[in-house]
Amino acid sequence: MNACVKISAMSGTPNTEDIKSEVERLALAAKSAPEFMSQMVKLLHERMLKYNWVGFYMLEAAAAGQPPMLVLDAFQGAMTPHTRIPLHQGICGAAASSGKTVIVDDVSKDPRYLACSLETKSEIVVPVFVRGKVVGELDIDSHFHAAFKEEDRELVEYCAALVGRQLEKFQA
Ligand code: SME
Repeated sequence: MNACVKISAMSGTPNTEDIKSEVERLALAAKSAPEFMSQMVKLLHERMLKYNWVGFYMLEAAAAGQPPMLVLDAFQGAMTPHTRIPLHQGICGAAASSGKTVIVDDVSKDPRYLACSLETKSEIVVPVFVRGKVVGELDIDSHFHAAFKEEDRELVEYCAALVGRQLEKFQA
């Protein structure tokens, strides 16, 4: 075992494949989409040591003359001042309006970034789709620079896709 592997084993950071299996088990047992979303953010926050804030923003239908809003839903971590984010603002707005995952390795260098905590260094936001349309997103902040690697992107996209399927299942 080389030194890096040893450190990662000692830190207790789990394999992302194990987390996927745990999330899948939660999906199978959940009785509603909100229940699943609450359990998922708790699991990711507790088990993935660099995921320091984990939460959902869900898209609210636009009121007349108002821009569509992303509204804070289930989350784990410190309370954020951004409970409602207009679709054209923030990293959150960028991910929801493009329908694409956004990863920012250094939030201090991204002019779109809306600060939630001075400790946040990097962020990933993955859209949630229901029948091909963006209905919300899974947002994760880290206190570490460039915390979100390819395997994190795969894990978070997998989680967001499961939420989309749960929403479809319970809305059907
Ligand atoms: N940083 C986000 C705002 C949400 S907080 O991270 C919880 C953004 O730039 O859209």
